[in-house]
Amino acid sequence: MQFREGAFPDHAEKSVRNPASAYTDPSRFEREMERLFRARPVPLGLSCECRDPGSYLTGRIGGVPVAVVRQEDGTLRGFVNACRHRGAPVLSAQGDGLRSIICPYHAWNYRLDGTLRARPLDWGFDDVAKEDCSLLPIAVAERYGLVYGDLDADATIAIDALLEGMQVELAEYGLEGYTHFETRSREWDFNWKLVVDTFTEPYHIPSLHRRSIAKDYDFRNSIWDTYGLSQRTVNFRSTIDVELAQKPEAERRLLPHTTIEYYLLPNVVLTHQIDHLELWRALPIRVDRTLVTTSLYAPAPPQNDSARGYWKKNLDLLLRITENEDFPMMAEIHRGLASGAVKELIYGKLEPALVHYHRALDQLLAEPSQPQIASR
Ligand code: FES
Ligand SMILES: [Fe+2]
Repeated sequence: MQFREGAFPDHAEKSVRNPASAYTDPSRFEREMERLFRARPVPLGLSCECRDPGSYLTGRIGGVPVAVVRQEDGTLRGFVNACRHRGAPVLSAQGDGLRSIICPYHAWNYRLDGTLRARPLDWGFDDVAKEDCSLLPIAVAERYGLVYGDLDADATIAIDALLEGMQVELAEYGLEGYTHFETRSREWDFNWKLVVDTFTEPYHIPSLHRRSIAKDYDFRNSIWDTYGLSQRTVNFRSTIDVELAQKPEAERRLLPHTTIEYYLLPNVVLTHQIDHLELWRALPIRVDRTLVTTSLYAPAPPQNDSARGYWKKNLDLLLRITENEDFPMMAEIHRGLASGAVKELIYGKLEPALVHYHRALDQLLAEPSQPQIASR
């Protein structure tokens, strides 16, 4: 598959250069953790991952482990995911059916609202008031099926302000009605931003993915729109030709023939692909180490083995491509950057989402009190 003449009509005004240190400098990494993650609300997941009372998801905000739990009254509460006894994570991955939160280390027992219910051999702690041992709260909010968290427990999270207008389109998906199928996680030796970078442009598909998915894409067009610092890209699948040729305009459907990506600052990509949703979370561990989680959501609960098999095959394919082709390349790139020999990266005009993403991060880093924070 080759690019055709006139591809990428949506492009950036000019190419930009980003110094390697944006990916490798530990002091920049610390600043990112502070300003991009700990000082503002960040996306944690989708509401449908924790739909019923007692269901939960876990994540990290700038290195701080967090958990979000659906309460009996249907609201969400969030906590630092660390037991008040000796700091063990009280929850892991995602799950449901909790009646209490029981720490796996010594079985301290918390209510879903994070208050401590009981401690085994409580006499051993009778000089430590239970009231002082609640899980530490964080602020959480959900809207349009998205869950955001803020380490400042008193923060009011203005999701509309964070999405900067992108919510109008996002709302139409009805994200809250999707079913979380499965999440898989893996740690990689590269900077967290490289995860997002790899999704921002289809330019690499004909070469890096020439033996796998290149044939499935059509590069005559690619749509890119910005919403303040946020953005969305639309890339077309090869099947779009048949749709255009065979259906009258009023009957044409876009979604089954596209890969649409919404960039949720700072570290999450929400993708609608053909018939399902994906969420890619890049959770920074160190400047050169990142936990990548990949979640797949189906439009309806799978009713039988064949439906489950279909979604499993989809997730297997996604990870086969990213874990064999994209992410190993990112790890090599990081090694080159860290070696000191590669001084800068070039983001071309035809990689507008890449340019915009890094501009957005730089702006947030430079202006910690930008509008979203001011409106809290
Ligand atoms: S660390 Fe949780 S009960 Fe001990
Ligand atoms: Fe790719």
